[in-house]
Order: sequence, then structure tokens, then C-alpha cells
Amino acid sequence: MTDVRTDPIAPRSMGTPLARVDGPEKVTGQARYAADHPAGEPLALWLVQSSVARGRVVSVDAEAAREHPGVHTVLDHTNAPRLGDADDAELAILQDDRIGFRGQIVALVLADTVEAAREGARLVRVEEEAEPFEAELRDGGATYRPEQVNPAKETDTETGDVDAALAAADVVVEQTYRTPYEHNNPLEPHATTAWWDVDGDGRERLTMYDSSQGVHGVATALAPMLGLAKDQVRVMAPYVGGGFGSKGQPHAHVMAAALAATTTGGRAVRLAVTRQQMFALTGYRTATISHLRLGAAADGRLTAIEHRVEEQTSRIKEFAEQTASPTRMMYAAPSRRTSHRLARLDVAVPSWMRAPGEMPGMFAHEVAMDELALACGLDPIELRRRNEPETDPETGLPFDTRRLVECFERGAERFGWAERPPSARATRDGEWWVGCGVASATYPAMRMPGNVARVESLDDGCYEVSIGSVDIGTGARTVLTQIAADALGVTTHRIELLVADTSLPMATVAGGSSGTSSWGSAIVAAAQQFRIDHGTDPEPGLRSEASAVRGDEAERYSFHSFGAVFAEVRVHADTGELRVPRLLGVYNVGRVINPTTARSQLLGGLTMGLSAALFEESVRDPRFGHVVTQDLATYHVASHADVLGVEAEWLDDETPLFTPMGSRGIGEIGIVGTAAAIANAAYHATGVRVRELPLTADRFLE
Ligand code: MOS
Repeated sequence: MTDVRTDPIAPRSMGTPLARVDGPEKVTGQARYAADHPAGEPLALWLVQSSVARGRVVSVDAEAAREHPGVHTVLDHTNAPRLGDADDAELAILQDDRIGFRGQIVALVLADTVEAAREGARLVRVEEEAEPFEAELRDGGATYRPEQVNPAKETDTETGDVDAALAAADVVVEQTYRTPYEHNNPLEPHATTAWWDVDGDGRERLTMYDSSQGVHGVATALAPMLGLAKDQVRVMAPYVGGGFGSKGQPHAHVMAAALAATTTGGRAVRLAVTRQQMFALTGYRTATISHLRLGAAADGRLTAIEHRVEEQTSRIKEFAEQTASPTRMMYAAPSRRTSHRLARLDVAVPSWMRAPGEMPGMFAHEVAMDELALACGLDPIELRRRNEPETDPETGLPFDTRRLVECFERGAERFGWAERPPSARATRDGEWWVGCGVASATYPAMRMPGNVARVESLDDGCYEVSIGSVDIGTGARTVLTQIAADALGVTTHRIELLVADTSLPMATVAGGSSGTSSWGSAIVAAAQQFRIDHGTDPEPGLRSEASAVRGDEAERYSFHSFGAVFAEVRVHADTGELRVPRLLGVYNVGRVINPTTARSQLLGGLTMGLSAALFEESVRDPRFGHVVTQDLATYHVASHADVLGVEAEWLDDETPLFTPMGSRGIGEIGIVGTAAAIANAAYHATGVRVRELPLTADRFLE
């Protein structure tokens, strides 16, 4: 394995709309997802969950369950295998009698069929002792300052004298904004097929098909807990039906499958988490409360920005959403302050959901900017133009490319922004109030270290290119094929790409919009090393393996993507119903490697932002501690009839400073700012300012 300083690669396939290389497998139903793989005669696993939010398991009576036909095994904390390392309290299930949240796994049932396992689980009698608990995020209730916010950022920042700047400002906007709990809800629920056997050296081995955004991450997390070396855990995820972050790290159900499989004498275990169980076990976005104070001169130039966040984590494991982090770099202001405070609640563990931090934080900041534009009598695009920073306000570094103003200009032209009446509640079309709004989007460009790729020559000028990354439906397989082809200087037909298996070289998670940048750079490194090692006309069977090392660009430049989101909203005058006939995002994301799959990502992000704006809200009952909206009938996700005109485009751009492909990552930026653009458009339509998601109809009634 060699560390390679990559050279930029010339676009040949990159930039062209290569059809998804796995399209035929998917549309013909041959693509196998985690619960689809043949594995002998697997035993079905069903989860038994706690019914109290905090307390302990007093006893588990499994007699009736064991007597049920087809039931093989019932595991609880008294008879489950012991873990070598139980520090991760989310994953360390059945190790003691403690209950940390309602819905936590307290027993497992294995049976010949799913039906028998489910009935067996119903027959397990769990006696629980309830203790007082807290499950509500309240204004002013969050008290503790975590050591850092995701991913390893400062919790608090302070530059200049915010209070003095606010006192001296001509215009001040001071408001509180709220975003609700949200659950990720990928199309494919979480699932795992797992079995144990012995490898050629006589060592124990756990093999899993897991619906995961990162197979190496699953093996890395599970192996030490199971007392194994990482290479004793093999994880594969050839096809994954989305994750939105909820499959970015293994949750407790993955450990449940691994533990249960230790008891079967090598027979495989299959667990398909139900949609309802996903609302308790597989991660969610914390609710947030954002206190914003913006101070500006009369001409709209910001002098002070303060963003104080209250949100929640779980008592058993900390996750601190980085809600105020985009506020630190978005606009120029001499005085700035951000902070995050958490309430530690007896609830399920929050986690990543598409653009954690940026999504809720930019909702707050971008609605506040709309309010500031109004207070200054400025067009909201002009306000943003006046507050463009010369350099990254947080680091002082120059941006590689920050073309936000161009995104607004292009969007304004395409959207017809100039025709927008300047005042709110000015346009009525029959029974509908009509308005338009904008918001900025941003997302950091991330490149993860530690990725390795391998290139091997085959016959006929073909190459096998291997990396243990996962395509969760984004088009990563297709895009990596294009990158490999361009890096080797061959057509895409000559590339055989292998992914999604821990037996392939190390790859980081499909998360943080970092996949293409991280894995693609490793592939370029391996391809360039292959040419150095073996030339342009190699014999079959020659190999090179490499990782990409970066220069000091990250110390010299700030790498972020940007976008401008435009929304038209119609609000029914009598019912308050919201419709969004037009949504447009214009993005500056570096080079777009595949316009078809990129457009899908951006349209998907915009649609998810629309869904957050209008519908998505998980309701937790503070009396019991669980989420009551635990299906797609009560947790509304935007569906086809809600999504009218959604369009995405991007500026012609490239950033060879960031990756040898010139790309920067596109998975998450589409959701950022979108809900704010819709809220701002709803204000423009009706004159009603809503500072809380989702924008339900009742808020627009007289
Ligand atoms: Mo994404 S929430 O970083 O998987």
C-alpha cells in the first residue's frame, strides 16, 4: 500500500450522464438487500422492547414463548453472551438489567419463522421496575455543555463583542426558531443477516449482510465488543435502500443479530427491523431550539450574529448536533457568538440525519435573515449579497470557490424573482395567497482520511477496481466507475468495480457528503500508482493498492459548497393548506461527475427539505417517553402529490484543490435552506411569520 499525492484527472467520462451501472440489477429485482440473501435456513429474530423509559428489568418469564411452536431461543440479560467491551451503551444490549429508554431491546426471540418469532416475542413476560425520568426538551431546560459537537467541533465560539455590537446596531432581529424531532425513514428498513463460522485458520468469524452506509465501520464497531479482531468480522452491503444517516453507524439491532447468531450453532439469523421499531431504535434528528440575534447597520450589513442552540441527547450515549456550525462561516460580521447546550433525556439515542446541524441551523439562520431583510427594507437576495464574506469568517481562510451570489443571480433569472411584489400578502390567485421566498444553502466539503483502493489488471485492457465503500442508492457505483475510467484513461466498459465488502480495502462511511471525494481520491491514487508500477500495457494479474494523501490545502483553504434555494408557496385563504408549486435550487458544488445521479441527489435533498417544511414531525409523548407517530400514516413524508415542480441546477465549476476529480460532494446540501425558503415564501404569501417547523395549516388561519 502506497500513499500517493494525486494529480488532477482530466474529465472524459466525468461530466457525462452514464446510466446507473447497477440499474439493470435493480429494475429486474436481482439486486439483493440485506434481508434477501440466501443463508441456508435462517432463524428469524424478533426484538422485545422495554415499555418504561427508565428503570430496570426485574425478571423475564420466557416459558410461554419457549413453548410456542417454532421458537428456539429467548435471550435476555441473564443468559445472553457477555460482550468483551460494553462501553457503548447503545450497542451493549442485554448486558445488565438497566433500561435507558422506552423501546430499548430487553430480550430476543429466535424462531423458525418470522411469525413464530413475533408471537414468541409477544409471549415473553418482562417485569420492569419504572423510575422517574425526563423525556421532554423544554425551553431553558437544556443545561450541559458537551465537550464537542458532531463531528468533533467546538461547542461554543466567540469573536468580538456581540453584546456591544447588538447595542450599537441600527437594526436587531431577535427571535427563537424551532425544528422538531425527525426520523430518517429510508425506503428499506434496517435489516441484518448474520452467521458465525470458522475461517481457514480455525478462527471464529462473524459474517453479516447488513443494511449499512459503511461496512468497515460496522466491523470496526462490533469486533472489539465481540472480542474479535476486525478481520474476524466480515460485513457486506451490496445494495442498500437509503439511510439518510440512520445506517451510518450500527445501531443496537445489528448487535442483536450478532449476539443471537452465537447461539445457533452456525445457523444464520435474520432480522428485519419493522418501520415502527425504527422510530425507537435506529436513530433520529434531535429537536432544536435556536435563539438568534442578528445586529445590522441600516444598510443591512451585519455587525453581530449570535446563535445559541438548545437540543437534546440521550442519557445512555451522547450525540450533539452541530446546529450552529453553519452560522460560524456563512456571513461576514465582526462580532459572532455560537453555543450548544444539551438536555440529557431518558430517550433513544439521536444520531445523523441528512445534514445534521446544517439543516436545522440554516432553517433558523435563513428565516432570521429574511426577517432582517424586511426590517432593513432590502430585497433578501441583496441582503445576502451585502453580507458576503471575503474569507471564511470562522477560519479566516479563503474559500476554494464560493459562488453563492452567482447561484442567487442564476436562480433569480430562472425563477423570475424580479416579478416578485416587494411586500407580503400582495398576491391572491382565487382562494390562494401566493408568495416567493429564498434562502441560502451551505454544506462543508469533507474528505475522510484512511481510504484505500486497489487496481488489478485483467484481460483485454480491463481493470478490476476495489474499494470497500457502499452505494446506498446515491449512484456511487456509477460515479466511482467513471472516476476509475478517467483515472486509468480507459472507457467505463473496461472497469469492473467491486464495493461493499470488508474483504475489500478500507473505506469510510457513505456520510457527510464525503463518499465520492474520499473514495474517488483513493481510486485516483491507486490508478496513478498502478501506472507508475505497471505502465499502460500491463499483463493481467498485476496490482497496485494506494491511498491518497493530501497536501496542506486544508490548512490554506476553506472548502464548502453553496446554494440558493427559491420557493413559490400558495397558502389557501380558508384552510391554511400549503402547496409548493415551484422549488428551485442552484448549487456551487465543484465538478458534477454525473449529471443524472447528481440531479437525483439534489432533487432528493430539495424534496426532503420540502417534506421537512410541510410535514415531518415525530411527536414524543413526554409522559411515556416514546415517539407516538411511529408509522408512515402518522409521520408524514412528502409523497408524489406533494412534490410539484422541483428543479436543480449547478454552476459549471471545478475545485482541483479539493479532490483530483475537482468535485466537492452533493449528498446533503439539497436539504439545507430549503425549509427556510419555503417558510420565507409562506410569509411573503400571507404576512404570517412562522418560526417553527413543520409549517402546518393551522398557523396560517386568521
Ligand atoms: Mo449523512 S446524515 O452524513 O449519512
